[in-house]
Amino acid sequence: MAETRTVSGYTIVTKTTPTFYFIGVTTGKSSIMKVFPLWMRELGRPEIVIEGVDLKIHDEPQAYRQAVAQIKYDPLSLGALVTTHKIDLFQAARDMFDYADPYAQICGEVSCISKRNGQLEGHAKDPITAGLSLDAIIGKDYFGRTGGHVLCFGAGGSAVATLLHLINKPDAADRPRRFIVVNRSQGRLDSMKAMVEQLKTDIEVEYICNQDPVRNDAIMATLPPYSIVINATGMGKDIPGSPITDAGLFPLNGIAWEFNYRGELDFMHQALAQVESRNIRVEDGWLYFLHGWTQVVAQVLHIDLDDALFQRLAAAAESVRK
Ligand SMILES: NC(=O)c1ccc[n+]([C@@H]2O[C@H](COP(=O)([O-])OP(=O)(O)OC[C@H]3O[C@@H](n4cnc5c(N)ncnc54)[C@H](OP(=O)(O)O)[C@@H]3O)[C@@H](O)[C@H]2O)c1
Repeated sequence: MAETRTVSGYTIVTKTTPTFYFIGVTTGKSSIMKVFPLWMRELGRPEIVIEGVDLKIHDEPQAYRQAVAQIKYDPLSLGALVTTHKIDLFQAARDMFDYADPYAQICGEVSCISKRNGQLEGHAKDPITAGLSLDAIIGKDYFGRTGGHVLCFGAGGSAVATLLHLINKPDAADRPRRFIVVNRSQGRLDSMKAMVEQLKTDIEVEYICNQDPVRNDAIMATLPPYSIVINATGMGKDIPGSPITDAGLFPLNGIAWEFNYRGELDFMHQALAQVESRNIRVEDGWLYFLHGWTQVVAQVLHIDLDDALFQRLAAAAESVRK
């Protein structure tokens, strides 16, 4: 039976082995449970274990505070990656953090909880990880070279992160002229708009509230060649279907980027069917998964993550992907 103690009203388990938490909804199903031990071996830290913390969507504030308190008060609880609850957790436990990075403050969320010199730190890593993935897919000056636009289905955390990354690009050739975002409900579009208005950008952002796939096909048909079409809705994994119909035509020479790498992936299959006819490049979310996790692991374990180390970790994870 694990030893516990009470600190500031929270029940804290005294861990006997260094523990990295994964705070999500159905954490046991994620590939990271298999990848993490391989990475710890690769990093020479096989003693570090990963532990899932499954919370309900929009859980009670106290549940988020308890999860944060465990990390804050137990010396061997090293930190966490947070999915799904990034906004709710930060809202509920903001006062428990000694530091929140600028992205956490702009986005109002944390995806990474870590400790440094006894201080509890919160970082929003998504703009960095979505950005690293996009940069790896399109390379330098993509928009200057091609004149492509971006169409993003979904205006959730990952879509906001992608737009923020593009807005922050100092070189005009790395910014699209137009970024169209389509979301099922108006609320997310309003929050995205409020964020964009705080920042100075020459990207024309168009906000469309829609969930009719036929209309989405029509929106996609307005894109110039080489445009990037993103599925950030979770459709094809979290919920069935695709934001477009089978008849929707991807932009000629364009890129279709599905943010997920497991599930039915209907959108990705629709794009794969047009690889030859429309010269479409199709990307899934595996690289995004790798960047997302390696950035947080590096922050929590205080590792300098250079490209060589990223490549080693990516290679170690490959067996799980297969
Ligand atoms: N590969 C990776 O490592 C990685 C990393 C990040 C994200 N992802 C995946 O990417 C997906 C999005 O992530 P997220 O964090 O941005 O999720 P999220 O915050 O839940 O956002 C999803 C958004 O899509 C909208 N949506 C749902 N169905 C739609 C439709 N038919 N048409 C238009 N919009 C629709 C939702 O609208 P409402 O406002 O109406 O709910 C919501 O705003 C998830 O499936 C996630 O697993 C993968």
